[in-house]
Amino acid sequence: MYAQQIKTGARRLKSLAEMEPQERAFQEHVDAGSKIEPKDWMPDGYRKTLIRQISQHAHSEIVGQLPEANWISRAPTLERKAILLAKVQDEAGHGLYLYCAAETLGISRDQMLEQLHNGQAKYSSIFNYPTLTWADVGMIGWLVDGAAIMNQVPLQRCSYGPYSRAMVRVCKEESFHQRQGYDSLIKLCRHGTAAQKEMAQDALNRWWWPALMMFGPPDGESVHSAQSMAWKIKQNTNDELRQKFVDQTVPQADYLGLEVPDPDLRWNDARGSYDFGEIDWEEFHRVLGGDGPCNRQRLEDRVRAWEDGAWFRDGLMAHANKKADQKSLGRADAA
Ligand code: 3HC
Repeated sequence: MYAQQIKTGARRLKSLAEMEPQERAFQEHVDAGSKIEPKDWMPDGYRKTLIRQISQHAHSEIVGQLPEANWISRAPTLERKAILLAKVQDEAGHGLYLYCAAETLGISRDQMLEQLHNGQAKYSSIFNYPTLTWADVGMIGWLVDGAAIMNQVPLQRCSYGPYSRAMVRVCKEESFHQRQGYDSLIKLCRHGTAAQKEMAQDALNRWWWPALMMFGPPDGESVHSAQSMAWKIKQNTNDELRQKFVDQTVPQADYLGLEVPDPDLRWNDARGSYDFGEIDWEEFHRVLGGDGPCNRQRLEDRVRAWEDGAWFRDGLMAHANKKADQKSLGRADAA
């Protein structure tokens, strides 16, 4: 793996022979498919990239609640409202698991949220797009959660124990998310009116390309892939997972009778995969740089939620401190 460079343009990886004994033992442990646990020795770079990836994954989960929350009060039926409520609530739970997994690496929840609020940390670019119609909620379930599953299933085999274990439950719940989204689009496209089908097509036109961007930049621009794969944090390159997603999703669009907005999309028999058009990486970098349709609103909403919740956090801390004081007083009396 070390000598064989993943064609990502990333810096050259150290060979086993170049590693200090402790790092070599760590790498051999990872290569043997064993898990690294919080108390194990790990290279600083391994810790750093896990904090980066897990905390940004957690931020994506809680910011990802915002576009859908926009439709909870406007869901077309009580059943759809209940399903959407359950899904948005799940995402909060995913954020919790992931913040807890990141905390095992030595960063606090407050530090991570500070990095989100001050723009230092990223969250998935997909959540900077608006949900203009009810069909967008179905698209998020089908495409966004579908892409999330594609990228999260391999993370169940990640070398870092707490992250891989958090992914098991997250992936189970994401399957429900994807299914409910696709089910609502079947209602619109196969059992709805022409106007409802048109609403779904409009939503696909707006969500298709940003969903492909969820897998990250092309392999040649991915700065982290090579090392993340050597450390078995990542099992696949960005382009591999993107291709798998396209191959799986295009037939689902066909079943809905929707047209994928890519004139270059065609089945390539020789490759056994779809060829597809060029992604607008300018747009990707623009949205990552903060200039997407909803970046400012998403951060404002998150900061306001944090500030509005301060009284509740203070109350919890006061209660916890009081209990701790009582306990230590009780110990003093008993002594
Ligand atoms: N949005 C925002 N930033 C992105 C991005 C995207 N779609 N794709 C890549 N980036 C960032 C990376 O974070 C990195 O920036 P950084 O150094 O400041 O962190 C830079 O672009 C270069 O990308 P790399 O490919 O080199 O970075 P990674 O190796 O980290 O790969 C990744 C990017 C594939 C997103 C990887 O971090 C990953 O697999 N993360 C875990 C899964 C995840 O976070 N998914 C996001 C969606 S979660 C979701 O949708 C849940 C839903 O239920 C709400």
